[in-house]
Amino acid sequence: MSQRKSSEMEGEVFYPSQSVIDQAIVKDWDSLALKASQDLAGFWEEQAEELDWFQKWETVLDDSNKPFYKWFSGARVNIVHNCIDRHLKTFRKNKLALIWESEDGKLERTFSYFSINREVSRMANIIKAMGVVKGDRVTIYMGRIPEIVFAMLACAKIGAIHSVVFGGFSMDALQGRIEDSQSKLIITCDGSYQNGKVVELKRIVDEAMKGCPSAENVIVVRRVGQDVPMEAGRDHWYHDLCSLPIANGKCPTEAMDSEDPLFILYTSGSTGKPKAILHTHGGYMVGTYTTLKYVFDLKDDDRWWCAADPGWITGHSYIVYGPMLNGATTFLFEGGPTYPYPNRWWQCIERYGISVFYTAPTAIRGLMRFGEAWPNKHDLSSLRLLGSVGEPINPEAWRWYYRVIGKDHCPIMDTWWQTETGMFMITPTPTVPLKPGSGTRPFFGQEAEILNDEGEQVADGEEGYLVLLNPWPAMLRGIYGDPDRYVKQYWSKYPGKYMTGDSAKRDKDGYFWIIGRVDDVIKVSGHRLGTAEVESALVSHEAVAEAAAIGLPHEIKGQAIHVFCLLRKGFSPSAELAETLRQHVATHMGPIARPEEVTFVDKLPKTRSGKIMRRVLKARAQGLPEGDISTLEE
Ligand code: WTA
Repeated sequence: MSQRKSSEMEGEVFYPSQSVIDQAIVKDWDSLALKASQDLAGFWEEQAEELDWFQKWETVLDDSNKPFYKWFSGARVNIVHNCIDRHLKTFRKNKLALIWESEDGKLERTFSYFSINREVSRMANIIKAMGVVKGDRVTIYMGRIPEIVFAMLACAKIGAIHSVVFGGFSMDALQGRIEDSQSKLIITCDGSYQNGKVVELKRIVDEAMKGCPSAENVIVVRRVGQDVPMEAGRDHWYHDLCSLPIANGKCPTEAMDSEDPLFILYTSGSTGKPKAILHTHGGYMVGTYTTLKYVFDLKDDDRWWCAADPGWITGHSYIVYGPMLNGATTFLFEGGPTYPYPNRWWQCIERYGISVFYTAPTAIRGLMRFGEAWPNKHDLSSLRLLGSVGEPINPEAWRWYYRVIGKDHCPIMDTWWQTETGMFMITPTPTVPLKPGSGTRPFFGQEAEILNDEGEQVADGEEGYLVLLNPWPAMLRGIYGDPDRYVKQYWSKYPGKYMTGDSAKRDKDGYFWIIGRVDDVIKVSGHRLGTAEVESALVSHEAVAEAAAIGLPHEIKGQAIHVFCLLRKGFSPSAELAETLRQHVATHMGPIARPEEVTFVDKLPKTRSGKIMRRVLKARAQGLPEGDISTLEE
């Protein structure tokens, strides 16, 4: 890739090298984009034709009941059939599907498509034997080990709906999600490793189960080998179940309706509790398959590494489903980037010959801090493409990633998308000229606009609300159990247009620049958290009468949580209490939600109707103008 200034575009532009162009699946972005814009259904139908269906669709896109769109209506399919079964009839049967390395680097486990089929079938048989049937919910709460992948696929194979809860969340978050989803079964492990320490997942499950009558059984995978209490009749060691005859027969892949639920995934919204975003077998499958193929240009000789956690949407779509739909070899790493040393990721890239690497800006910024010597110790020459996701990437981090990791020849795919979109929405493909910090343009078949409060398009270069105009196959099918909220949250502000919750700008080349969330969602190190959850954790402490949480810019994390607390009578501000409250939030939600700073206040800025004006707090904290405060209570 070469960099040169272009008169048509402002600032730095990075152009693809000839070898990137030669390899790219999409060589002519413009004509594919034009084709998709002229015939949206036709474009997606062509993609769907590349996959296997038990029965073909009657309609590609059913928009008769907007915004409740349906994709591939009438078709019968199962995403697992396309992730695994269909590969067994090809050379991919013996191809590596999954490579895993333990945090300490001492263990490596690999699975071909053939052996992953055996693992998934076995787990599926066991889940069925637990009385789980099509449509039942199963909560998965595990560390980054191969069994989390098997568990997700096993549920999908038999038509159960998985609900993965990120293994870094604590008891309250887990309990709320088990309860809300009414899960019948929990799949967990005895513990997971984090920076050399054990996180006792099974004990957290035990606590959570006290308030969850729906859950009848717990399957426990042994990972750390510590003693954990096992409740007779309810808790079962996975390795014991595996030795039962029932575990080892063939397990047919259930034929699902294209629109049948595949999974729910809880994510933070602007208000209240996290909501369960619902995705389906058919559309999600076509969307993740197509986006990964075109954006990361996956070929059979690639080794793909998405360094997210399977517990977030990025892991669902691009560790598990997208790669396997493409018959790719995917790498899963149990640990984090800096333990025991900040070369851990670079070591993995070298050790496994990773060719396409995808991570978040926060990780890049964190690793930059340790200097170039760490990556430079390793041979990173296997890399040919890089990716970024989760928050805006600042140009400085972009350039470091490009130069130090990509050695000036790996284009960076900055992919903008959401739990709700299921797949990349604004993203380049490898031959698109890049500008550091911009995700370039909407993916094929999509159009975006930047609107003001009145719903008018703002001029190029001006900030406004980012909306999407066209339906797409991997779009959320709603909020599980709350259809009204789906319409209200995403489709009401601008009827007919999907409201992303982000603000953005478009430049005169049509490139989009994401600024950040406009609602009460905070992105801490790329993790999506809600102010409401942090606040409710705080007020659950006896000292706190009222609390407000906001996100403020942070050099490494992107955003950090700052909280303002009004204390109850009898409690007075102190450094100890501040520390106690920070810890309290971490214990209730998970370490990622630990506030950066606690400020004690006598009063919180509120509207006359009693709503906390977080915007005002945010402006004050940054010394910025407070904006319109006409609704502020006296
Ligand atoms: C933000 C993560 C800028 C955005 C896949 C969005 C990004 C929210 C990018 C969704 C990006 C994600 N550039 N911002 N490339 N990718 N975001 O649901 O604010 O965890 O609305 O999905 O992350 O977060 P979620």
